[in-house]
Amino acid sequence: MDEEQSGRMVSGKRQEEDSSVEMSLRPRRLSEYIGQTKVKEGLSIGIQAAQARQEALDHVLLYGPPGLGKTTLASIIAVEMGVNLRITSGPAIERQGDLVSILTNLKAGDVLFIDEIHRLNRTVEEVLYPAMEDFAVDIVLGKGPSARSMRLNLPRFTLVGATTRLALLTSPLRDRFGSVHRLDFYDQESMERIVRRSAEIFGIPIDEEGVREISARSRGTPRVANRVFKRVRDYAEVRADGQVSGDVARKALDQLEVDSLGLDDVDRRILRAIIEMFDGGPVGVDTLAAATSEETDTIMDVYEPYLIQLGFLQRTPRGRVATRRGYEHLGVTIPANDKPGVQPSFFDETRDSGA
Ligand SMILES: Nc1ncnc2c1ncn2[C@@H]1O[C@H](COP(=O)(O)OP(=O)(O)OP(=O)(O)O)[C@@H](O)[C@H]1O
Ligand SMILES: [Mg+2]
Repeated sequence: MDEEQSGRMVSGKRQEEDSSVEMSLRPRRLSEYIGQTKVKEGLSIGIQAAQARQEALDHVLLYGPPGLGKTTLASIIAVEMGVNLRITSGPAIERQGDLVSILTNLKAGDVLFIDEIHRLNRTVEEVLYPAMEDFAVDIVLGKGPSARSMRLNLPRFTLVGATTRLALLTSPLRDRFGSVHRLDFYDQESMERIVRRSAEIFGIPIDEEGVREISARSRGTPRVANRVFKRVRDYAEVRADGQVSGDVARKALDQLEVDSLGLDDVDRRILRAIIEMFDGGPVGVDTLAAATSEETDTIMDVYEPYLIQLGFLQRTPRGRVATRRGYEHLGVTIPANDKPGVQPSFFDETRDSGA
């Protein structure tokens, strides 16, 4: 059976096939991982050096908005190092004992991936300090006056931490990572390669214009591209001949209310709220969350980074501000400078308050 045949989908069985296809969508090797050149290069050097010395790779911290490939990179690291991968997440580890048992079950060289590492609670986090630095954990045996502490040695392992919010990490934890990599939104060219690759894996016929359209409207995020792609495929099958052309992609995306830059309804509501309810800002993120009925965390993790990337919104010390471009995108006339929220200085696009 050739590649073409095995890749094709039959509508009835699509659900189950999709989940296994989902797995194959995840690049397994560093060489299959598209884009993020700087991160890839840094990791590749680290991996080769560690292998040459026959040591475990230094702990790695990955940060950036959701859906850019942090989990994928963690598993690639394990594959490239030829070791096991153990996956857990910050909120899943409730007590010190949970983490101790995970750590003591690791084998030499293993990769432990902790997703949402900023959500580890402080007492659990303290177990990580000696584990990361000295490859040891201190456990307390017994209770009361007879209690004594004992040090258990751990095999040399690699901790890969992932977070959407670097600023929420305590400095003792952050300082213990040998390398820290920031994942950025993908550029148009990388997005196109990702969409072409997904098309091949899904076995969906698509032309170059279709590729361009989906890539441009997936907010520089591979996970979004894959999700959008599936909806476009549905549209192509129901409303067209199954082929994803530029026209079909455009119509499908319009129907999903995803605009030409990839903004969806929530993005636009957030931007509109800043402009219409708060005179362009500055407005605190909690107030903005209340005004749009969204979670503060979701705004900060998911929506805001992309709006900032597009230059539609800025973080300032006094709150969020809509920029000139933000007004323009929504087609709202920029008011004269007599309003407090739209001081000209806030339109200075080079300004970046960090955090
Ligand atoms: N560089 C890449 N090349 C090709 N596909 C990618 C790449 N990065 C991510 N993907 C695709 O995007 C999907 C989402 O990636 P992944 O789950 O690793 O994101 P994440 O950054 O861990 O997100 P989250 O922070 O939400 O956990 C993957 O299943 C994969 O199909
Ligand atoms: Mg993930």
